[in-house]
Amino acid sequence: MTTPQDIIRRDVLSMTGYPVPDATGFVKLDAMENPYTLPAPLAARLGERLAGVALNRYPAPRPATLIEKIKHVMHVPAACDVLLGNGSDEIISMISVACATPGAKVLAPVPGFVMYQMSAKFAQLEFVGVPLKDDLTLDIEAMLAALAEHEPAVVYLAYPNNPTGTLFRDADIERIIAAANRSLIVIDEAYQPFAQQSWLPRADAFDNVVVMRTVSKLGLAGIRLGYLVGAPAWLAEFDKVRPPYNVNVLTQAAADFLLDHVDVLDAQAAELRAERTKLAHAVGALPGATVFPSAGNFLLVRVPDAAATFETLLTARVLIKNVSKMHPLLANCVRLTVGSAEENEQLLAALRLALH
Ligand SMILES: Cc1ncc(COP(=O)(O)O)c(C=O)c1O
Repeated sequence: MTTPQDIIRRDVLSMTGYPVPDATGFVKLDAMENPYTLPAPLAARLGERLAGVALNRYPAPRPATLIEKIKHVMHVPAACDVLLGNGSDEIISMISVACATPGAKVLAPVPGFVMYQMSAKFAQLEFVGVPLKDDLTLDIEAMLAALAEHEPAVVYLAYPNNPTGTLFRDADIERIIAAANRSLIVIDEAYQPFAQQSWLPRADAFDNVVVMRTVSKLGLAGIRLGYLVGAPAWLAEFDKVRPPYNVNVLTQAAADFLLDHVDVLDAQAAELRAERTKLAHAVGALPGATVFPSAGNFLLVRVPDAAATFETLLTARVLIKNVSKMHPLLANCVRLTVGSAEENEQLLAALRLALH
């Protein structure tokens, strides 16, 4: 008899999968989704468009029209190419697979986005986490020392960082780029709609930098579309390990249609930025709560007892993320996604019960 234990890698056997709790019936503020749906007339037109999609055909592997539209709408520098992924998660995975030479390392500040580490592990790359400072800003000296010591193949810099919300200083990133002459720097701009600052216009200015984006936080998490912007020489290599039909026809058609209406999504992001400011003030005024500055659509908050706060919110049917066990720097921290005005009111009401 053959069992998984005979066949599957030992490190995989000991892993647990990425946890996604069932949010049915909850105010869902745990995954940095945009709370707004499309306006009904736009959704109806999208429906008509999707009805015309040929589901019997495989998707175009490199859909030229969609790629051109992304380049145009997102102001991609002319010298850069665009590589599409089934979410930026898949792009991270492609980068890991393509860079997985024996002994190669991936480096990122920690606490950071967990998929950098998980994806490195899946591809049997070593992950080096460089702790942020106590105030959750980048420890640039530690980053430079780690770069020199480990010479990682890949460095991830989330701009802004998840789960802290920190927007690392451009001057620090420039120092890392200059020092990392044997590494690829991936600047992950998943939260760019809320940061409104970007390295994309400079994606053609360095030979060791690529910029990663996603439409997820813009309001289209369900369609799973991420993209990597960078020099054709880099992207051509990642493209070789891309599953052949990775972005499905419905996603391609939906993105192609909605990029013509990106003003609708931009307006939603603007509302969320305003809600973020209001929520940060209100939460910061609660007893025992410390709100860290955030350039994302979420707030990292330190409370006296994160587990108790999480449980009280759960009882009030509000789902947030307790990140306190992710890293020692996040002791007693919870992460709150910024929702609609109404959701934020429900969140605040529940937080008032938890923190009094
Ligand atoms: C920093 C960062 N990068 C990438 C992603 C993943 O984005 P996608 O939905 O495109 O896979 C996330 C999701 O939370 C994130 O926080």
